[in-house]
Amino acid sequence: MTPTIFAANWKMHHGPRAARDFSDRFLDGYRPAADREVWFFPPAVSLEAVAARAGEHAGIRVGAQNVHWEPKGAFTGELSVAMAKEAGASAALVGHSERRHVFGERDEETGLKVRALLEGDLTPVLCVGEQLAEREADDTLEVVQRQLAVLEGLDGATLSRLVIAYEPVWAIGTGKNATPADAAAVHGAIRRWCGEHGAGAVSILYGGSVKPENAEELLAEEEIDGVLVGGASLDPETWQAICGAVLD
Ligand code: PGA
Repeated sequence: MTPTIFAANWKMHHGPRAARDFSDRFLDGYRPAADREVWFFPPAVSLEAVAARAGEHAGIRVGAQNVHWEPKGAFTGELSVAMAKEAGASAALVGHSERRHVFGERDEETGLKVRALLEGDLTPVLCVGEQLAEREADDTLEVVQRQLAVLEGLDGATLSRLVIAYEPVWAIGTGKNATPADAAAVHGAIRRWCGEHGAGAVSILYGGSVKPENAEELLAEEEIDGVLVGGASLDPETWQAICGAVLD
C-alpha cells in the first residue's frame, strides 16, 4: 500500500528562523507511521533549515517549490535541481497554479522541469487544475489532460515515479474546496490517463483550501492519496491537526 502523503506548501512564508521554530514545534508531537508521509515545501532559503531538523526523521521529506530545468548558467533568481538536492530536497513542486497564472509558466516549461527533476533523481509533484471559468464551461478534464500531456513520451516506469496534485485554481486560498466526490472524479480521470500511458500506481494528491475540518472527509475518498496544503500548513498545531493520524 502506498502511504498517504500530507504535503505542506509554505509558498512565500517562513524564512530560515521561522522554519526552524516550526520544525521544532511540529516535531515535538511527531510520531512516524508506516502508512503516512509528511512532505514540506518551504521557500528555497529555508530548505536546509527544515531538512536539517525535520528531514532527519522517518516519514518526513523536504522539497523545493520550483526549480529551473537547466543545470546552471545565467538565470538570475533561479534554483537548479542539483542545488535543491544539495540543500536537502528529494522532491519539487512543478507547475503550481501560482507559477502558471501569476508568473506565466507555460506547459512546455513545466515539462522541461519534470524531466530535469527525474534526471536529478528528485520526485516531481506535478500540479494540475482548472480555473473557475474553465470549470463553469465544463472544461475541467480537457484542461487537466492538456496539462498532463507534458508527460507524453515518458515510459510507464518513469511516470510511476511522479506524484500528481489536483488543485482546482478556484479552490486555492479561497476557502472553497471541491466536494470530495468532485475531486475524486477528476482524480479518477488522472489515474486513467496515467494507466493508459503505462504507469503503475501513481499517488494523486488533492489541494485547495484543505483544513483540519475537511481533510478527513477528502482522504476518505479512495481516489485521494494525500493532500497538498497551503494556508493551513503554516501553523504547526493546525498542520498537526491535519496530519492528525500520523501523530497519534
Ligand atoms: P491553500 O493552497 O491550501 O491555501 O488553498 C494550496 C496550494 O496552493 O497548494
